[in-house]
Amino acid sequence: MRYNMSLSDQPEFDTVKGFLDEGEGRRLYELALSASKYAPCLEIGSYCGKSTLCLGLACKENGSALFSIDHHRGSEDHQPGEAYFDPALIDLNTFQIDTFQTFRQTIRKSELENTVIPIVSRSQTCARYWQIPISLLFIDGGHSFRDVFVDYQAWVGHLLPDGYLLFHDIFKTPDKGGQGPYHVYQLAMASGLFKELPTTNTLGVLQRRSLADAPNVSTLNTKEGSS
Ligand SMILES: C[S@@+](CC[C@H](N)C(=O)[O-])C[C@H]1O[C@@H](n2cnc3c(N)ncnc32)[C@H](O)[C@@H]1O
Repeated sequence: MRYNMSLSDQPEFDTVKGFLDEGEGRRLYELALSASKYAPCLEIGSYCGKSTLCLGLACKENGSALFSIDHHRGSEDHQPGEAYFDPALIDLNTFQIDTFQTFRQTIRKSELENTVIPIVSRSQTCARYWQIPISLLFIDGGHSFRDVFVDYQAWVGHLLPDGYLLFHDIFKTPDKGGQGPYHVYQLAMASGLFKELPTTNTLGVLQRRSLADAPNVSTLNTKEGSS
């Protein structure tokens, strides 16, 4: 993948380990380019830095910043014996997954060290102390309903009006994939606080309504609205 920006000297998207496809990566870039003019962006779940690369390059263009949170110990399905286990990511001193070294290489090679602010932490722990308004929140950490719900609940209050709320791995039916992100996406929609924008593959995109853009009850998915 090559971006048509001043980025021809950046490492190829395809060389970074991760779970985004090219269309999703480009959409992340475009949304962050629009949002980061107003405030920093924040992602939960950096892994080896693939989404970080897309979001970070956009933030860099605006002289903004990307907070990138991950405990770097991998999700459940990255552990030995699970579907997405990668033995190259085992730290041979601890025999645990450690994606932080690879992540640092990605941001160093992409010249994003002055843009991306890595936070090595459980997202919920970090959220307890957070006070900075953000213009874009990308949720791609743990994928169980509970994990996604906790991330949504802990962070969404920091998202500015008109800011973007993004979920990776939105599968509308269980035969396509896990339902945790999709169920939280639906809860966010039911809150009335967000407008739904077109998805890109499995990237769900919501935009926080501004105060002047309160929904009419007839457009909400409520008993009152649908009667
Ligand atoms: C699906 S991967 C993220 C993929 C990445 N966004 C990409 O573009 O390749 C999920 C990541 O979330 C991290 N993670 C899972 N639960 C977390 C939590 N509670 N707090 C912080 N990071 C978490 C894992 O360590 C893992 O690296």
